[in-house]
Amino acid sequence: MLKVLVTGPRGFVGARIMEKLKTAQPCPSLRNATEDTVKRIVDTMQPDVIIHTSALSDIASCERAPEASYRANVELPVWLAKTRVKLVAFSTDQVYSACREEGPYPEEMTAPGNLYARHKLEMEEKTLAVNPGTVLLRATWMYDMPVYGVENRGNFLVNMLRGGAQSYSSVQHRGLTYVREVAEMVRAAMQLPGGVYNFGSDHDLTMLETARWLKEELGLPVELTDAGERHHLWMDCKKARDHGICFHSTIDGLRQCISDYGLRGD
Ligand SMILES: NC(=O)c1ccc[n+]([C@@H]2O[C@H](COP(=O)([O-])OP(=O)(O)OC[C@H]3O[C@@H](n4cnc5c(N)ncnc54)[C@H](OP(=O)(O)O)[C@@H]3O)[C@@H](O)[C@H]2O)c1
Repeated sequence: MLKVLVTGPRGFVGARIMEKLKTAQPCPSLRNATEDTVKRIVDTMQPDVIIHTSALSDIASCERAPEASYRANVELPVWLAKTRVKLVAFSTDQVYSACREEGPYPEEMTAPGNLYARHKLEMEEKTLAVNPGTVLLRATWMYDMPVYGVENRGNFLVNMLRGGAQSYSSVQHRGLTYVREVAEMVRAAMQLPGGVYNFGSDHDLTMLETARWLKEELGLPVELTDAGERHHLWMDCKKARDHGICFHSTIDGLRQCISDYGLRGD
């Protein structure tokens, strides 16, 4: 059986991966780690695969603290790649945030529009240069219900359930992915050859259309307005599909989540 080490095991994605991969080892926090600490942890735990979810993942926090972002989002994964253990690291659909074309975007068509995205793209390039077997997973915005006793991250589903006035763009195409499906697919991702993969739900609706669908599906007391012009974050997930990794569409993923949690209440 593969020995799997998960960084960020209490984070939004990491906690769901730990739940799914019952025998995975939780990595100690790497917030203040040095290259030596990383090497020592890996030497001690001797994993076959590292699933790396730790990051400074809030766009505004990265803009406010560029050095902290560089350390967390570039240096830390490069140190992990240097251990030569198979690395599966999370990246982001934000690498497409300044694309001018309509989409969907294949992996090679990048144009990062913020510092977080630039650092993630640099991380992809540097980890692959150091360790060509590295698998980089570009994730969409993910959602789930809160887990009891675990700090919750704001997400589309929770925002919508909260109700009230909300604004989504009628022109922005963006996939949204059920994080539990992401955790499920990580097992297959460990078998992928090194490279970058768009990794999430495909989508042909705009954010406002998705929000309207969810509002009607659950009868939510939400007042939706059009946020207007927004960049697309529309990933073409064919490469992962060609390797057998097929996510639900955004709407089917939401249907699955609604069913898992009995959100319809009937
Ligand atoms: N959530 C999304 O919708 C989304 C969308 C696209 C891409 N992603 C990417 O997916 C991965 C997982 O996201 P997530 O939402 O699970 O992240 P998260 O919950 O915000 O953070 C994951 C873990 O990162 C560690 N961490 C926080 N600040 C750090 C720092 N400065 N240096 C080192 N480690 C730090 C923490 O673990 P410890 O407490 O153990 O230190 C935290 O639990 C990230 O790479 C993120 O960029 C997420």
